[in-house]
Amino acid sequence: MSAGIAVITGAATGIGAATARLLASRGHRVVIGDIDGRAEGVADEIRSEGHQALAVRCDVSDEDSVAGLFVSARDLGSVQVVVANAGIAETKGPLHELDGSAWNRVLDINLGGTALSMKYALRHMVPQGAGSIVAISSILGLVGQANSAAYSAAKAGVANLVRSTALTYAAQGIRVNAVAPGYVDTELIRRLPPEVSSQMISRQPLGRVGTPQEVANVIGFLASPESSLVTGAVWAVDGGYTAQ
Ligand SMILES: NC(=O)c1ccc[n+]([C@@H]2O[C@H](COP(=O)([O-])OP(=O)(O)OC[C@H]3O[C@@H](n4cnc5c(N)ncnc54)[C@H](O)[C@@H]3O)[C@@H](O)[C@H]2O)c1
Repeated sequence: MSAGIAVITGAATGIGAATARLLASRGHRVVIGDIDGRAEGVADEIRSEGHQALAVRCDVSDEDSVAGLFVSARDLGSVQVVVANAGIAETKGPLHELDGSAWNRVLDINLGGTALSMKYALRHMVPQGAGSIVAISSILGLVGQANSAAYSAAKAGVANLVRSTALTYAAQGIRVNAVAPGYVDTELIRRLPPEVSSQMISRQPLGRVGTPQEVANVIGFLASPESSLVTGAVWAVDGGYTAQ
């Protein structure tokens, strides 16, 4: 039996792709919204395993594009789960050297894109009186780190966006949570200078970088009825980083 539609943004690679595979294996028909054409390959792979998947080209920073993603999802059935995952990292550097367009891009995709994805998710979930939304914050949304002003501001924004939205919709049967990953082996981290990423990993108490699957496992739990008492949580998946 289908567990309903699960929409995952930014699922062409990394944490999003692992989440799409996991939710498909749990019976969701998955709709992948990504700006990157490799989303088609993830959908093909999921279908080849006998599950249902659709890839839709979507830029989460563009409202019309997000609205279109949810129209495609709705055509397939009831949207039960939305994972607002799409995000980009910022070029590391001090705020006084950050150009305005870089600031806008990081905020527009990481915070604005998450808010738009949640907005259209809620338009489907409110009338049905059910749904689970999971957004992706970061350890950098919970604690400070030098030279990541825009990313940290955006991810802290995601954490409180989730808390506020969870409170707004709790009485309507909709749960809203976030994960806050530490350092996870994806393209996002591989784009950082090696000295920056190795320093970050050395500060992760479990002593290693995480895998996309390890984050997807927690997203899958928060998306599922197993976490029915959990809403407004920002769940660290960080090898102990924020326990320090
Ligand atoms: N990797 C980490 O260590 C780490 C840590 C904390 C948080 N995160 C967050 O996890 C999420 C997933 O990142 P990842 O690590 O898997 O990296 P990734 O680069 O592998 O995946 C990001 C995905 O988002 C997509 N994307 C980027 N801009 C988009 C846009 N405008 N519209 C639609 N899709 C877009 C990319 O095409 C890509 O598929 C992001 O929100 C990221 O900030 C990652």
